[in-house]
Amino acid sequence: MPLIPNKAQQIIWSKIEERLKKKQPIRLAILKARQLGISTFVCALAQHYAMTHPDVYVLSIADKLDLPRQWLRRAKIWYNQTPAPLRPHLAASNAKELFFDLLQSRYYIASAEGKLPGTGFALQFLHYSEVGYWQNADSVQEQTFASVPRSGIIIIESTGNQVGDWWYNFYYRAKEGISNFEAIFLPWYLEPSYAIKGAKVDDLTPYEENLLRAGATIEQIAWRREYIQSKLAGDEEKFTRQFPATEQEAFRSGGKNVFTAEQVAQAYKTVREPAWRGEILTSMTDNPRNFKLVESEGGSLQIFEKPNPNYHYCIGADVQWGESEASDYDAAFVECLETGKVAAFIMGRWQMPHWAQILAALGYYYNTATIAPERNSVAAEGVIWTLLGRNYQNWRYPKIYVSAKMLSLRSTGRIEDYGWKTTNQTKTALVAFTMKQTAAGEMDWAVEVAVRQMAAWITDEKTLTLTHPAGQHDDALMARMITAYVAQQLRNTVELYSPPPKIEKIDNMAQRVARQAGLLENSQEDEQEEIELVEV
Ligand SMILES: Nc1ncnc2c1ncn2[C@@H]1O[C@H](COP(=O)(O)OP(=O)(O)O)[C@@H](O)[C@H]1O
Ligand SMILES: [Mg+2]
Repeated sequence: MPLIPNKAQQIIWSKIEERLKKKQPIRLAILKARQLGISTFVCALAQHYAMTHPDVYVLSIADKLDLPRQWLRRAKIWYNQTPAPLRPHLAASNAKELFFDLLQSRYYIASAEGKLPGTGFALQFLHYSEVGYWQNADSVQEQTFASVPRSGIIIIESTGNQVGDWWYNFYYRAKEGISNFEAIFLPWYLEPSYAIKGAKVDDLTPYEENLLRAGATIEQIAWRREYIQSKLAGDEEKFTRQFPATEQEAFRSGGKNVFTAEQVAQAYKTVREPAWRGEILTSMTDNPRNFKLVESEGGSLQIFEKPNPNYHYCIGADVQWGESEASDYDAAFVECLETGKVAAFIMGRWQMPHWAQILAALGYYYNTATIAPERNSVAAEGVIWTLLGRNYQNWRYPKIYVSAKMLSLRSTGRIEDYGWKTTNQTKTALVAFTMKQTAAGEMDWAVEVAVRQMAAWITDEKTLTLTHPAGQHDDALMARMITAYVAQQLRNTVELYSPPPKIEKIDNMAQRVARQAGLLENSQEDEQEEIELVEV
């Protein structure tokens, strides 16, 4: 029976063609839902490659020990079904490979759990299957990647497993353009047979509405409901892991997720590209008012909206401790109090006084925004110390957040009165607020990394604290939540700008009179009219 490529397989093929056309090496990292036919398709490509090229070594690596034998059996069937004139001569075969002796090409199938073939020769085509479940992905990568020349092909395909594992990191490095792999995500609804023909559903949940918008059909949504009820005893979360609709859903966090898949989906809808990207430069020997904005690709500062002179802003900042690779980043969001939108986001690693200086510069840029640095450690206090002007410098930032509770209890001036203090209690308040706002579609997230950290956040089962999984960060998430929470508090204390009411349908004469009386500013229309008048 011929293999007629399904939708998911066609997507992969078109990506390969695209890269061939652009003369880019074929390097694909495919994150997928279960049972889309991806292993089958990549095996077919690999075998076809070995059967049509002389002198090549092609290797597929499966996750389980018993798969190589099954795949080899299938490979022989495919070989026998190939029309004779297109079939290269097959040498007496063994249980591990097809050896096309006249071509001197091999298709070898191994398991990550078993022995890998000795390398030492170039691999022209390398295929990893279900790498998310390998125990030793690191060492297999070490043994095989170096053998693939630039002209060779590497295709890695897997469902998602744990946040922070090898596959998670590999996939997101590709997605973020840090590696030369192309990240491809294949959601479950690409498979048309995951559907109940003719089924109707009523009362779509907001999540199901999202699915519909993303491209699932009503019949597929009916299938999803039915599958969750009959096969998963109503456990929607389980469905999400096996049949992810988004990348975030594909990876599981150890412990229980804090935010629901629906909240993550809502948050994800607000993610967008910044209008500007670059650095905010300040000199450590100068006042942070004298900053410079320098545009650069991949810069640490992302600006979504420039400061509007009428508006108020607030900055919530997470402060890292230490500068090692493993530590968190410094991260801050700028939110507009009037619009509730994210105006800017910055993330990087700086010396503590430098981070304070950058926050102050950003604050000055956004109309002397209120700055709320997180204060949960000695490190964070160092930032506040600098902002307060006590770091042997000649400037002091005038608007540092002080919690209302602190204000009412005693006069300020002590360092512990300033900034956002994170405790289990305030963290719970932050999360409750964030959930409510996000579910109501009122929270602007803007930045993907913050949403990814949100999706991965868990309740640690032992300590019952809210935290990030091992090896992951939550700096951007914390910064976003603090900013949103503090912004909401500040809305009650500052006089928010509201635009003057528009005067409508007044004829030009009345406008001119009003303008002469200084009641109206020149509008564009009027200016044009004036020019006409001069011509007359
Ligand atoms: N184009 C296709 N048409 C029909 N069946 C297919 C097709 N591709 C794969 N299959 C079948 O679908 C099932 C799942 O394929 P598999 O490659 O194991 O999926 P995945 O690796 O995505 O989980 C297998 O039984 C396979 O034979
Ligand atoms: Mg597979």
